[in-house]
Amino acid sequence: MRTTVAIIGAGPAGLLLARLLDEAGIDSVVLESRDRAHVEQRQRAGILEQSTADALRAAGAGARMDREGLPHTGIELRFDRRGHRVDFPSRTGGRSVLVYAQTEVCKDLIALRFRTGGPLLFGARALAVEDADTDRPRVRYRHGGREEVLECSYVAGCDGYWGISRAAVPPALARTYERTWPYAWLGILADAPPSHHELVYARHDRGFALLSMRPPAEGADAPVSRLYLQVPPSTEAASWSDTEIWDELDRRVETDGGRPLERGAITAKAVTPMRSWVHEPMRHGRLFLAGDAAHIVPPTGAKGLNLAVGDVVTLARALVTHRDTGDPAGIDAYSADCLRRVWGAEHFSYAMTDLLHRHPDATPFDDRLRRARLDRIATCAAAETDLAEGYTGVPFP
Ligand code: FAD
Ligand code: DHB
Repeated sequence: MRTTVAIIGAGPAGLLLARLLDEAGIDSVVLESRDRAHVEQRQRAGILEQSTADALRAAGAGARMDREGLPHTGIELRFDRRGHRVDFPSRTGGRSVLVYAQTEVCKDLIALRFRTGGPLLFGARALAVEDADTDRPRVRYRHGGREEVLECSYVAGCDGYWGISRAAVPPALARTYERTWPYAWLGILADAPPSHHELVYARHDRGFALLSMRPPAEGADAPVSRLYLQVPPSTEAASWSDTEIWDELDRRVETDGGRPLERGAITAKAVTPMRSWVHEPMRHGRLFLAGDAAHIVPPTGAKGLNLAVGDVVTLARALVTHRDTGDPAGIDAYSADCLRRVWGAEHFSYAMTDLLHRHPDATPFDDRLRRARLDRIATCAAAETDLAEGYTGVPFP
């Protein structure tokens, strides 16, 4: 088989890239190792920055998102048993975010691809990217029990942290930067109405907690709760009973005069590891890495999905400009352009993570410093603006 762009991975990065190329009339083939149900049901991110929502709208994938997504104009920081609201529009010149799950973004993009686009093969595992530094790269893959070859002009490695495309960058040309964190998140989805109308990021001596939500399921009229607890990294999700989870959430988000959380049946429970990691460069010859294949942020601040979208918007624009004008400047600048935004988000996610979590080896002095920073955000417009701008994200160029 031959195509212009071989896209490895049907997460948000690969699916949106495929859609943008379809719209521009550039043919592509998407190879996805898992089945459709798995991709559509994998619980992950839930917050879309304004630029991400705008990119999905511009790609014709925003109709259901705009009907069902929940616009949010602020978050609450909770510490010392009190809350401080950070208002986004007044601090950022009108920007806000949208609560709409990654599962739904993927469903919308998959439906569009099947209705109007090129091939999307589920159960197709890429094995290797070959000849990336020539003008005829190839992807070897396994599909339906047979080994096949996809010849192409470009390869988009959108296959996440565990993918294979990165291995095509010669080690001598690659550099990775990493920080691991001494904790993880236990995340649950619960059939319970959100206890607060906005997201709550809570710092507590027992550890971080996050109150988030998901839009109502089809046919329902109330949003459901998406909640997270900081836990030790080796935690088994099943080792926490439902009651223990609710009790611990209640302790960590409690305020003076506040009410306990609304409880309900827990319908999903999983532990997410925390990692900060960047692979440079994001391009080798005609191979472009995008999304989690090139960078991971810890989840505090919800940047992962948004970075993936920024990468593929940049890549699609570079490929379209090259086709239309012959100018390779966008392609040549792809890695540097993306990495500027990536490192900005790495810094934001790092700072949010460090500020809000309980470090096992933190000294009382370290903890006082973190509280001083929270006080600063709560009392200084410049500090609050910095957080609001980081959270809502920089506009795509
Ligand atoms: P992925 O979504 O990882 O997609 C990569 C795709 O490639 C997958 O479908 C995979 O099956 C496929 N693939 C892999 N190898 C191959 C191969 N060899 N051949 C073919 N296909 C292959 N971010 C947030 O902002 N907030 C969160 O709460 C949050 N929670 C998360 C929880 C978990 C468990 C994980 C892993 C991530 C979470 N993230 C979160 C991060 C966010 O979901 C990712 O940043 C986002 O999914 C990145 O999209 P992507 O398309 O780059 O990668
Ligand atoms: C969610 C995840 C995040 O990492 C975050 O910072 C906010 C919300 C969520 O899944 O809803």
